[in-house]
Amino acid sequence: MKRIAVLTSGGDSPGMNACIRAVVRAAVYNNMEVYGVRRGYNGMIKGDIFPMDSFSVSNIVQKGGTILKSARSMEFMTYEGRKKGYENLMNFGIEGLVAIGGNGTFTGAEIFFNEFGVPTVGAPGTIDNDLFGTDHTIGFDTAVNTALDAIDKIRDTADSHDRIFFIEVMGRDSGYIAIQSGLGGGAEMVMVPETDTSIEEVIDTLKSGWNRSKTSSIIVVAEGDEEGGAMEVAEKVRAHLPYADIKVTNLGHVQRGGAPTAFDRILASRLGAAAVKGLLEGRKNVMAGLINNEVVYTPFKDTITKSKPIHQDLINLVDILSV
Ligand code: F6P
Repeated sequence: MKRIAVLTSGGDSPGMNACIRAVVRAAVYNNMEVYGVRRGYNGMIKGDIFPMDSFSVSNIVQKGGTILKSARSMEFMTYEGRKKGYENLMNFGIEGLVAIGGNGTFTGAEIFFNEFGVPTVGAPGTIDNDLFGTDHTIGFDTAVNTALDAIDKIRDTADSHDRIFFIEVMGRDSGYIAIQSGLGGGAEMVMVPETDTSIEEVIDTLKSGWNRSKTSSIIVVAEGDEEGGAMEVAEKVRAHLPYADIKVTNLGHVQRGGAPTAFDRILASRLGAAAVKGLLEGRKNVMAGLINNEVVYTPFKDTITKSKPIHQDLINLVDILSV
C-alpha cells in the first residue's frame, strides 16, 4: 500500500489531532503518501481531499478539536453518497483509509468496505469511551478531567450554600464520563444509562445524607440516564423535597474541547501509528485499540455491536465512599 487517506468523523474529541499527526508521520516514515479528508465522510463525497506531509501536522499534538474538521454525514448513509465517496478516493488513487471516530464512523466504514472494498482501519476517537475493543477511547481522559475540574469548583459553592447540585455530563448511551468524574469528584450519587436508579433512591440518599449531617450533595447525571437529564431529575426530586435548595449545571460541550491530557496524547499517538501499521499488514475493517496496554485490532462489527459494560465495582464504590 503506497497511498492512504485519513479523516475524523462524528463528535470531535481531544487527542484527535495527536492521532492525525501520528497517522501522517507513521505513513511518511513508512514511505507512504498520505492525504487528509476534510469534514469526515462529507469530504470524501465532495472530494475535499488534499495531500499532507510531516509539516502539515506540526504543532498540533497539544491542540483540541481536529484540524481535519468533523461531521456526522447524512449523505454517507445513502448508497449514492458512498458511491461518490468511493469515486473520489479512486480519483486520488487512495488505497486505504484511517477513520478516527466512534460507533457511527465505524458503522459507515464497515458498510463502505462491504460495498466498495476499500480497506479501513479505525482509531477510537470519542469522549464517550463506549467502544468495545479498547480500554480507553481517545479524548475520554481529557473529558473526565474537564468534568472533574468543574465538579470541584461546584463543590466549593455547593458547600458554602448548603446546596444540592445535579451536574449533567455527556454520554447519550454511556455513563463512563459520569462514573469516572463522579468517583474522582466524590459525588454522593451517579446516575448512568447502564443501571436503573429511581427517583426514590435519589431522595433516600439525600435524606440519609442530611441525617448524617451532610449539608451539601453532588449528584452526577449522564445525559442519557433513564430518568432524564439533570434538569428533569432535579425537577422530579424538587417535587418531593420542596424545601431543598437545588441547583442544576449542565457541563455540555465544554467536555469536548481543550488541550488533550498526556494520557490522551500518548494513546492517540500509539493508535494512530498502529492504524497505519495495520493497513501495511493488510488488515481491514478493524479498529486499533489498547487492551491491557497492548495494541489489539478488533473487527468493526464487534466494536459496533458488542457493549463494554461499566464495571459494577465502580458503581458500588460511589455508594461505599459517599457513606
Ligand atoms: O459522542 C460524543 C458526544 O459528545 C456524546 O456524549 C453526546 O451525546 C453527543 O456527542 C453530542 O453530539 P452533538 O455535538 O452532535 O450534539
